[in-house]
Amino acid sequence: MEWEKLFAPAAQVDSGSGIIEILRLSEEPGVISLAGGFPAAEMFSLTEVREIADRILATKGEVALQYGPTPGFTPLREYLSERMKKSFAAQVAPEEIVITSGALQGLDLICRVLLTPGDIVITEAPTYVGALQTFSGFGAQVEEIPTDDEGMQVDLLAERLQELEKRGAQPKFIYVIPSFQNPGGTTLSTVRRRLLVDLAASYGVPIVEDSAYAELRFAGSSKPSLKSLDSGEGVVFLGTFSKILSPGLRLGWVAAPPALAEKIISAKQTNDQCSSSLSQYLALECGRQGIIDRQIENSKEILKKRAAALVAGLAQYFPQGTHWVEPEGGFFTWVTLPPTQGLDTGQLLRRAVVEEKVAYVAGCSFYAHGQGSNQLRLCFSYPPLENILLGTERLGKFFSAFYR
Ligand SMILES: Cc1ncc(COP(=O)(O)O)c(C=O)c1O
Repeated sequence: MEWEKLFAPAAQVDSGSGIIEILRLSEEPGVISLAGGFPAAEMFSLTEVREIADRILATKGEVALQYGPTPGFTPLREYLSERMKKSFAAQVAPEEIVITSGALQGLDLICRVLLTPGDIVITEAPTYVGALQTFSGFGAQVEEIPTDDEGMQVDLLAERLQELEKRGAQPKFIYVIPSFQNPGGTTLSTVRRRLLVDLAASYGVPIVEDSAYAELRFAGSSKPSLKSLDSGEGVVFLGTFSKILSPGLRLGWVAAPPALAEKIISAKQTNDQCSSSLSQYLALECGRQGIIDRQIENSKEILKKRAAALVAGLAQYFPQGTHWVEPEGGFFTWVTLPPTQGLDTGQLLRRAVVEEKVAYVAGCSFYAHGQGSNQLRLCFSYPPLENILLGTERLGKFFSAFYR
């Protein structure tokens, strides 16, 4: 069978430099992985989750093992409506919340409902590789807005929106990760948040706010969610249990205005019909019993120490002139090396893994149009402290060789 001839355009998306390659490389024996954005095993509330799972299976096993309603279980939607108020100062009715199989499915469903091939999606540059692959799969045209240490440069967004309007092009939405961005580690300042929400509203362009890491702040002062700043129906919020409880549950949520939520529910019906009932009961009980909040506090302690180790390693071992984003939360920092002959982090990744036994994610993975050859993302959430130090030492020495 000539399968190559049968593939639909969406299946032609190149994922070689993306998630699959990152995961494969970082699993090689002896490799210190500063690549995949995983929570550390020490963050998980294993004992509590085991007890709760036991209790759920003993008391309501017949529903936990059954299919559930497509929008998600009502008590979990009610719990999330309260949590959105408490953690994000956002007023969202339970009916506006759709439970998804991870935030990534939430984003996929949003695209399914909104995008036609050729539509424009505006993103930060760099941005989350999974989002770029999703947009590409739907045939979207990505318009990138440069970032600095305070996140998306909203003045440049204003210029771009004006240019697009002049060309008669209306973007479908703006995708943004305002807090502890992946990969940038940056957090959008409050001033820029207000400007962004107002600007998007004035052009009639919705914002998709991806809040994957927003609750994991271990330094600095908190910033308002875009959803809380929106006085209309312009912000769609993506949440996930992956970074605050467990990615293995595959559970997230979308908070969307009613008209959009309804379409997302229809799309989910033929996608996976419903998210795992057992995961939903587990997440609900962990939330109600304060396990999620305790896990968040514990995770922040771990992340703070690991981020400090990473930054110390960067300062000690990386070439002079290297720039990195000082992390205040989340899992990542973003490193920019001084450009020099022969330095291409994408091409060097294999050598770093094979020769130096350390993995990172190359900058080019996070751009739609191939920049980032002197950049890389480093993840500090997963490796133990001693491996972070050793990993940055190995990488720092590896890159320093290009500046002699
Ligand atoms: C910014 C961002 N959004 C979404 C996701 C996907 O999360 P989930 O596990 O909920 O699908 C990730 C995962 O790494 C992420 O970094």
